[in-house]
Amino acid sequence: MSIEKSRAIPSPHILIIPIPLQGHVNSMLNLAEILCLSGLRVTILLSDYTHDRLLRHASLDSRFSSYTGFRVATISDGLPDDHPRSGSRVVDIVQSLQEVGGLQFRRLMVSTDGMSDGGARPRVSCLIMDGMLSFPIPVAQEMGIPFMHFPTISACGLWPYFCVEEVIDAGELLLRDKNEDKLTFWKRKEMDLMVTNVPGMEKVLRRRDLPSFFRVEDVNNAGLQSIIAQIKRTRQAIGLILNTFEDLEGPILDQIDKHNANQNLYSIGPLHLHLKELLKAKGKESSHHSSSLWKENDDCIAWLDSQLPNSVIYVSFGSVATLTRDELLEFWYGLVNSGKKFLWVVRADSIAGDGIGNEIPVELEEGTKLRGLMVEWVPQELVLSHKSVGAFFTHSGWNSTLESIVIGVPMLCWPYFADQMVNSRFVSEVWKIGLDVKDTCDRLLIERMVREVMEVKRDELLEKARGMANMANKAICEGGSSHLNLNRLIQFLKSGASSKL
Ligand code: UDX
Repeated sequence: MSIEKSRAIPSPHILIIPIPLQGHVNSMLNLAEILCLSGLRVTILLSDYTHDRLLRHASLDSRFSSYTGFRVATISDGLPDDHPRSGSRVVDIVQSLQEVGGLQFRRLMVSTDGMSDGGARPRVSCLIMDGMLSFPIPVAQEMGIPFMHFPTISACGLWPYFCVEEVIDAGELLLRDKNEDKLTFWKRKEMDLMVTNVPGMEKVLRRRDLPSFFRVEDVNNAGLQSIIAQIKRTRQAIGLILNTFEDLEGPILDQIDKHNANQNLYSIGPLHLHLKELLKAKGKESSHHSSSLWKENDDCIAWLDSQLPNSVIYVSFGSVATLTRDELLEFWYGLVNSGKKFLWVVRADSIAGDGIGNEIPVELEEGTKLRGLMVEWVPQELVLSHKSVGAFFTHSGWNSTLESIVIGVPMLCWPYFADQMVNSRFVSEVWKIGLDVKDTCDRLLIERMVREVMEVKRDELLEKARGMANMANKAICEGGSSHLNLNRLIQFLKSGASSKL
């Protein structure tokens, strides 16, 4: 076939660009594998930093070795290696990529003629990128490559971003005083007033449940304004992919669909479960493949094996959250004093300031020896599905939330930032599969809430959680909503991603 002819019939080659953070990379790798399974060629663009960590701690090569159409490309995120890339400094990653990503991306695309290899691998036919990234857009537009957005967060976490201007115009954004500390702000009564300008959420969303990027001193805040600009840009995309399912977020998906009427909307989640099902259907083994940026602790499963069924609360605040020493101690006392067994992930980089120090109160050391295990990172899906785990104390990151939903494990939520504020509200008030303790960090409350989720409210939460887990499983099976939507997405990508399907 001549080169001209092969260009005239676009052969699908999808370029996937995640924000280089654990949660986002996990979702995008799952999407990449699903697309590979459907016979599409896929390149994923990672930061050098993330790629190095994946090579060190994950099983990227063995996971993708059977997919000949899969490639990794890398660019620099522009930050020094010793940048913390966590806590409040995490926004530097997106900012830096927006500054230094465009030029590198242009060089890469031009020097490889759109990532083609001159042989069987054609140039990129469609780009799928994280919602908060825009550096690839000018190059994609110049090269005539259509692009889609996959924000990797929930529909309920995304929808308030689309409504941010209406919320501001209605004066529903509570502004923090210049010298007001975090705790005083959190305790303000006005934080509990309802937000009425996010359609479909009028009865659910309080001001404290808005994404944390809305917690500013001034509406002209540079971060907030850049989010508003970014949200407007997302409307240029030809499609929006979401890692969710219709039985979970149908009404909010309808709102987004109505708002973005010119885009195709594909809710194809829970992606990790969907992938497992597709692998099973192809007779492939879906053994545990780590995508971790940290080394997974191997001993925690043996420790769980030695515990009674449903006796352990698994605690993890994800890949970005950092705690002050005071916050860490409040959680620690709450857990130890609850009398429950706990498995707690505390990343080495998750304590802000000078770290935990050497002076650990003796009652915490003793209590942990008796009932707890603290480790730096675990194979989370294996932990959540372990019979000894009775509840998940989580930061409400969207991957963690979905992983818990799929297994039917009740949650105790302490959202740290961003969309997590909305997720935890939906977990507690809409889906009723967990409890939300956002904006509080007090040992007595934590102790009480751990008992509530593990004991007092366990049966009612478990019943709802099991119901939701069933719906998640139905969504990804033959004929389920996510399964049908995925088929539609693949058809769209195979057709050159040009017409609305
Ligand atoms: C980020 C964003 O901050 C969040 O707001 C958004 O919802 C998704 O991405 P993150 O902290 O990465 O959050 O949380 P989450 O989405 O839950 O992703 C964490 C991933 O790491 C999960 O897939 C989880 O299984 C995995 N994990 C976590 C481990 O494998 N081991 C651990 O010990 C902890």
